[in-house]
Amino acid sequence: MSFIIAIDGPAGSGKSTISKILAKKNNLIFISSGQLYRICSWFYLKKQYENVDDKFINEINKLNITYENDSFLVNNKNIGNELISNEVSMHASNLAINEKIREFVNLKINEIFKNKDIIMDGRDIGTKVFPNANLKFFLTASLLERSRRRQKELKQKNNTKCSLLKIYLEIKKRDKQDKNREIAPLTKAKDAIVIKTTNKSIEDIEKIIQKIIDEKR
Ligand code: CDP
Repeated sequence: MSFIIAIDGPAGSGKSTISKILAKKNNLIFISSGQLYRICSWFYLKKQYENVDDKFINEINKLNITYENDSFLVNNKNIGNELISNEVSMHASNLAINEKIREFVNLKINEIFKNKDIIMDGRDIGTKVFPNANLKFFLTASLLERSRRRQKELKQKNNTKCSLLKIYLEIKKRDKQDKNREIAPLTKAKDAIVIKTTNKSIEDIEKIIQKIIDEKR
């Protein structure tokens, strides 16, 4: 039987950073489900679609999406750096409201990672995607701290300088949208363990979660 860890939480709460470290230590595949929403947006924006109709769904279904070294490849290309922009982040949150997009992402996850030992981060992993996950965590941090982390990430990965205020407002808007949508909103699963990360280092958070994994596995 496969071993599944679900990590949910809002933007910048540290999900991907912690999940990547824990994946290596525990021999799990790390998957950021948000990357699939971002790929849908990247494609939508690139091809200048105007709505999510059957034509769009057909076209994203034709993309060859595979997984290698912690990243999704689209038609054999790693487009990771194109997925991190504020524009794609905000647009992904808009698209994620759509039932057909959510269905597409969840089918892809199932197709690529069936029966694998995984640690997956997102918004609805513990509630919708893997309600029977072996362990569920819900990471939180203050909006300001999450904005600072995202600013640093944009600088490191894309060499993009972005004002803290712009990022703060964008994340605030995205939080609101992700929490309040009707389908699969960002919520803590009843059985998820909450980890408050504002004043904790990556090592601290990793230790806390690793201890819980060791007790469970
Ligand atoms: O990295 P960050 O937390 O900023 O975002 P992400 O995990 O890459 O997700 C981008 C957007 O996709 C989020 O704002 C959500 O609207 C959406 N998403 C979702 O609806 N469900 C998921 N399981 C993962 C992401």
